[in-house]
Amino acid sequence: MKNFKIKLSVISLGTMLSLGVTQAGIVGSMHDLSTTNPNVATPIPGGTAEICVFCHTPHGTDTSAPAPLWNKILPTAASFSTYDALGTATLDGQIDLNEGGISLACLSCHDGTTALDLVLNAPTVTQGTYRYDAAGTNLGGGITMASFAPGPVPVLGKDLKNDHPVGVQYAGGGLTWAPITGANTVATAANDKLFNEPIWDNNRLWIGAVGDAGLPLYKGATLGPMVECASCHNPHKTDFGSFLRMSNAGSGLCLACHIK
Ligand code: HEC
Ligand code: HEC
Ligand code: HEC
Ligand code: HEC
Repeated sequence: MKNFKIKLSVISLGTMLSLGVTQAGIVGSMHDLSTTNPNVATPIPGGTAEICVFCHTPHGTDTSAPAPLWNKILPTAASFSTYDALGTATLDGQIDLNEGGISLACLSCHDGTTALDLVLNAPTVTQGTYRYDAAGTNLGGGITMASFAPGPVPVLGKDLKNDHPVGVQYAGGGLTWAPITGANTVATAANDKLFNEPIWDNNRLWIGAVGDAGLPLYKGATLGPMVECASCHNPHKTDFGSFLRMSNAGSGLCLACHIK
């Protein structure tokens, strides 16, 4: 059995190389919760060889979720204590986890409370293994981040006061979700001017560069461009460790946004 697993991982590595994949991706990463991940012991009892299913499903998704084709029920924003509760005098922007929302998708595992294996549409295994009913209600139990894995378990928990603000307006607020020009620039409109100018491209806003090399901002429902977990992290990308979108050598990630 052991031998079989080793062979399988060699084959999949070979396949990746032959496809010319340049980005170090999700396969074999900490976000690969499948039974075929050669790098970690299987955390999910009665697990599946599928990878994406712990976050995405092609059918029956949570349409209220901010992440595409989301296969989990989100925790409520009100269940978290956010950075603004510190009452820090220097914080300019408003914080609202419901505005851009994407952070709640990450927190649907990293809150340490929601079970990793609680999904809306289970993979092709016995649904009972995945602990939800047709209405998406948790049938109880489940593997939470707090209760699994040896090693460091990166649970943020419900207290986000000790974390970099998320669900927070970029540049202290004042910018609108529109091309960054004229009256809508950091220099003229932002409440906190010590931030780099975002780049507008195809109805999206980026910091540093457009696309994979840059950091995305997220569209707040009413608060304009927002910084969320996925502004700094790409849950599929392992090139820079910790699923970071860019290298933080020389604090390059921090300096992409902050003028310091
Ligand atoms: C641990 C959770 C997680 C897993 C597992 C995961 N994703 Fe994602 N995925 C996300 C999140 C969160 C977003 C939203 C990111 C954003 O909006 O910046 C996303 C966005 C996407 C997008 C749209 C945006 C983009 O980056 O292109 C695609 C396509 C996608 N995922 C495909 C996949 C596929 C295919 C797999 C399996 C091989 C997978 N994902 C596994 C969390 C996950
Ligand atoms: C399906 C559940 C799930 C979702 C959703 C999820 N994660 Fe994770 N994440 C995990 C697990 C499990 C680990 C590894 C825990 C361990 O092995 O101790 C992990 C690890 C990480 C790590 C540590 C990686 C390292 O190399 O140390 C980061 C960073 C991370 N996740 C960020 C995110 C972000 C940002 C999002 C949303 C875009 C997200 N995660 C969504 C389950 C999830
Ligand atoms: C402003 C950028 C930024 C934002 C926003 C951000 N992170 Fe991180 N995160 C980082 C950096 C940088 C690291 C790597 C820290 C290190 O290596 O010391 C990290 C590390 C982590 C880790 C690994 C454990 C640890 O503490 O080092 C986890 C898990 C994680 N982030 C999850 C999240 C989640 C979930 C969110 C949203 C609630 C989030 N991050 C928002 C920058 C960010
Ligand atoms: C994607 C853009 C972005 C990145 C990357 C980023 N930040 Fe921030 N950061 C912000 C925003 C926006 C705020 C909220 C500022 C405000 O409203 O006053 C903030 C707030 C802060 C604050 C709190 C300021 C206060 O007034 O309480 C500190 C400290 C900070 N960031 C440090 C860092 C460090 C260190 C890094 C790198 C690990 C980093 N930031 C990466 C956008 C970013």
